[in-house]
Amino acid sequence: MAEQLKMGILGVGGIAQIAHLPALRKAANVRLTAICDAAQDLLGKMGRTYDVASLYTDHRKFLDEADIDAVLIPVAHAFHAPLSIDAMRAGKHVLVEKPMAVTLEECRRMVQVSKETGRQLQVACMKRYDPGLQFAQRFVREEMGERLSVSGWYCDSVYHMQYVNSLAGPREGGAMQRRPTERIEDVHLNMVLGHGVHLIDTLRFFGGNIVAVTTEMTQKDHDIVSVSLLEFADGARGTAQLMVRVRMDWCEGLMVHGVGGSVMARIPFPYRYVGSDVNVFDARREEYRTPPTPDADPYERQLEAFASAIIEGRSVSPNAEDGLADQRVLLGMHESQKLGRRIETA
Ligand SMILES: NC(=O)c1ccc[n+]([C@@H]2O[C@H](COP(=O)([O-])OP(=O)(O)OC[C@H]3O[C@@H](n4cnc5c(N)ncnc54)[C@H](O)[C@@H]3O)[C@@H](O)[C@H]2O)c1
Repeated sequence: MAEQLKMGILGVGGIAQIAHLPALRKAANVRLTAICDAAQDLLGKMGRTYDVASLYTDHRKFLDEADIDAVLIPVAHAFHAPLSIDAMRAGKHVLVEKPMAVTLEECRRMVQVSKETGRQLQVACMKRYDPGLQFAQRFVREEMGERLSVSGWYCDSVYHMQYVNSLAGPREGGAMQRRPTERIEDVHLNMVLGHGVHLIDTLRFFGGNIVAVTTEMTQKDHDIVSVSLLEFADGARGTAQLMVRVRMDWCEGLMVHGVGGSVMARIPFPYRYVGSDVNVFDARREEYRTPPTPDADPYERQLEAFASAIIEGRSVSPNAEDGLADQRVLLGMHESQKLGRRIETA
């Protein structure tokens, strides 16, 4: 395979225009060779803007005919499983937006098809490619020793859309954009799948597998708070706090404590493209460490990591098994909140 991965993008709606198309243009080892979207007018505009002539409205023709090794799939949650499966069956590697899918059964099928076809599937939990978090995770993995607690919070801000509009500018729409006919009506499930997935994937990145969860939710009008007690496989404990919405700026972060030190991180609004503000405390040396993060677009970095893993024949991260493990925790949180008891994720 060439040193540049030929990629197509299936779906050029909101997040594609905000983050993925600019990242595809910047990523060193990726070439955007084809675009697919059901909305013809939008497709034409994106083709012109990104100088791509190979355009498709039918995803099956795109998968069969376009000159691509891999597909980025930023479409609504309900389409993640069927389109990823079609892409892998057509011989393409897949980078699919989060959450991996909606149901556990869909995630299991995606893992199965990835194994059968030998095509890799990465879930676009791009916080793993925040250089500040990578610095901190390396300390936890290589130097901190036994973990005692791993906790995080992800609080969507009342200013969310103002952030988006000021950082990303206007997005193009299209009359024929394809959207699911059914919405996820349950507010907790919606929040857990849409936002919680970033928090849980990040906590699993630092803390390893989560074997049980106990979740409570409180709601006042449109304000929702979900708090979970997390039990990690290695015996560490932690909490995950999700809030939609907080009356302050974007508020996301994590803290990790272990026998050899601690980590504190403040995670920025994703489209600011600056690394997390990280403080590592190395207890052996009694010193704090903070990394520089000059190259910090997490969408570009996840794409480059995906492409180099494919080109070099290594496993992508988070891979399909990680996506399934994240989903077990997310649906466990939801079940725990509904049933009012502790849920084992297995
Ligand atoms: N990682 C992040 O920071 C982040 C941020 C926002 C959204 N997301 C995720 O991205 C996903 C997409 O969200 P969005 O708001 O950009 O969606 P969107 O609905 O705005 O855009 C999806 C596009 O895909 C096209 N499409 C869907 N099915 C198609 C098909 N079968 N064939 C051709 N085109 C098809 C639609 O026409 C549409 O233009 C969601 O799952 C969401 O969770 C991630």
